[in-house]
Amino acid sequence: MNKLLDTIKNRRSTFPGQFGDGKIDQDRILQLLEAARWAPTHKMTEPWRFVVFGPDSVAEFIDELIKAYNKKFKESERSPIKLKKLAKRKQQVSHIIAIIMHRDPEERLPEIEEVAAVACAAQNIYLMMDVLDIVGYWGSGFAYSEHMRQFLKLQDDDVCLGYFFLGCKDHDAPIPERKRKDLEAFVSWYGEN
Ligand SMILES: Cc1cc2nc3c(=O)[nH]c(=O)nc-3n(C[C@H](O)[C@H](O)[C@H](O)COP(=O)(O)O)c2cc1C
Repeated sequence: MNKLLDTIKNRRSTFPGQFGDGKIDQDRILQLLEAARWAPTHKMTEPWRFVVFGPDSVAEFIDELIKAYNKKFKESERSPIKLKKLAKRKQQVSHIIAIIMHRDPEERLPEIEEVAAVACAAQNIYLMMDVLDIVGYWGSGFAYSEHMRQFLKLQDDDVCLGYFFLGCKDHDAPIPERKRKDLEAFVSWYGEN
C-alpha cells in the first residue's frame, strides 16, 4: 500500500458535464492555492501566478473565451455546438483558475524551467482537488490567444498555461477509467542496473 501512489493514480480530469451542484467555498480554493505554492522552484523564482474567477465572475470569463473563439473563426466556421457547450459552463462551473507563468524579470533561468515549475504547481492543485472533493480539469483552449492574454493583463513575457475549470464532486458520478502506457514504452535503462 502506498497512499501517495494511490492518490496520484486516482487523480482524474472531470469535465463540466459531470460536475455536481453547488459552489466551492473560499477555504477550499485557498487550500488548492496553498498546495500550488509548495511546488519546486529553481532559484526560488516562484514563477506561478493564479487568477481566480469565483461564482460571480465565471460568466464574464466564459464570455471572454467565447469572444476569443469568435475572433479565431469566421462566422461560417464556427460550431454552434461548441459555442453552446461553452455557454453552458456558466451554470456548470463554480470557479476558474488561470494558470500563469510570470517570467523572472532578471531571466536568471531558461523559460522552460519556469514553465516546468508552474506545471508542478498545477499538478499540486490537481492532486489536492481530489482530497477536497473538488473536480475539474486543466484546459488550454485559447490560453495562448492574444484576446485572453489581454483580458488577463499578462505582461509581455508571461505565459498562460491554461485554466482549471472547477466544480463540486458528484458522488454518484462514475469515476472515468484512464490508461497509461507501460513503463517499457518510455523508460530505457542505461547500463546493467
Ligand atoms: C497542459 C495541459 C493542457 C490540457 N488541455 C486540455 C484541453 O484543452 N482540453 C481537454 O479536454 N483536456 C485538456 N487537458 C487534460 C487532458 O485531457 C487529461 O489530462 C487527459 O485526458 C488525461 O486524463 P486524466 O487527467 O484524467 O488522467 C490538458 C492537460 C494538460 C496537462
